[in-house]
Amino acid sequence: MSGKPCIAVLTSGGDAPGMNAAVRAVVRTAIHQGCDTVAIEHGYEGLLDGKFVPMVLSSVGGILDRGGTFIGTSRSERMFGDAGLDLAAARLAEHNVTGLVVIGGDGTYRAAEELDRRGVKVIGVPGTIDNDIAATDTTIGFDTAQNTICDATSKVRDTASSHERTFIIEVMGRSCGMLALYSGLAAGADCILIPEVPWKTSDICASIAQGIARGKKHSIIVVSEGAAHAFGLAEDLTEACGHMVRAVVLGHIQRGGSPSAFDRTLASRMGAAAVEALLAGESGKAVCLQNADMALETFEVCYSHHHELKRHIYDLAMVLAR
Ligand code: F6P
Repeated sequence: MSGKPCIAVLTSGGDAPGMNAAVRAVVRTAIHQGCDTVAIEHGYEGLLDGKFVPMVLSSVGGILDRGGTFIGTSRSERMFGDAGLDLAAARLAEHNVTGLVVIGGDGTYRAAEELDRRGVKVIGVPGTIDNDIAATDTTIGFDTAQNTICDATSKVRDTASSHERTFIIEVMGRSCGMLALYSGLAAGADCILIPEVPWKTSDICASIAQGIARGKKHSIIVVSEGAAHAFGLAEDLTEACGHMVRAVVLGHIQRGGSPSAFDRTLASRMGAAAVEALLAGESGKAVCLQNADMALETFEVCYSHHHELKRHIYDLAMVLAR
């Protein structure tokens, strides 16, 4: 034991581009503040299994531009029960951890809240491409995932125009339509289907017909995974609209790739803010971006409120798609 504070960091849940930048910021800020640092491999599963790795400045060199999370992640069922949560708190005590930074989404925060109840000093950092946490204006990975979707949509549009076809592009987001809405706007989608807005097959057919009538050679429908499944919808639309509709599911491609400059900056600021919060005695809260500044909100506020539909953004996308 060095007698210094010891800050541990883990990544949890679905990986997101920019998580590495956040880990780097946690480690280097903690060292700058005179702390020891450890990374916990494979998220909460690694915590339960005691996978603690001491970090030095060079441990986080060369990772800023890398996608994924170099310390690994997991979705841990064991953290849903008291036995797992008690064991996790005991592991942190065994390794003399005085503060924990967890980087992930709402599931990560629920477990972190339980650790806080068990006396662990813990601060969250929002890392998820879904951008489904209302307390923060955006999450680490969302910007890069939008760019990936825009790039893929441009490629699909090339072949759609060549064959004069309609394509459905299914994107992630779980039960939240933010990723589909913003990437659909940015990619110029003709229709955007999200869980927050009811839709009818007949409306989609009418939109496709309107496009064809004004000489459009393609139609692009961006659908959130929480609103419909692309392949089933393609079959329905092929029948209802009377012409061939193809489907593309972008899947986990959306979670990979080098993080955008925005995500790297956001992750760097948030990782540093998490360490500063721990050193200031805060716990049971997550770092949020609010009006361009760093803020803290309780885990409960973060996991219990998803972003409400930004109706004006949806309406704008529909006006511009005409
Ligand atoms: O939470 C991020 C997310 O990418 C969701 O958008 C998606 O539904 C889910 O993870 C997929 O998770 P998995 O990789 O475990 O299948």
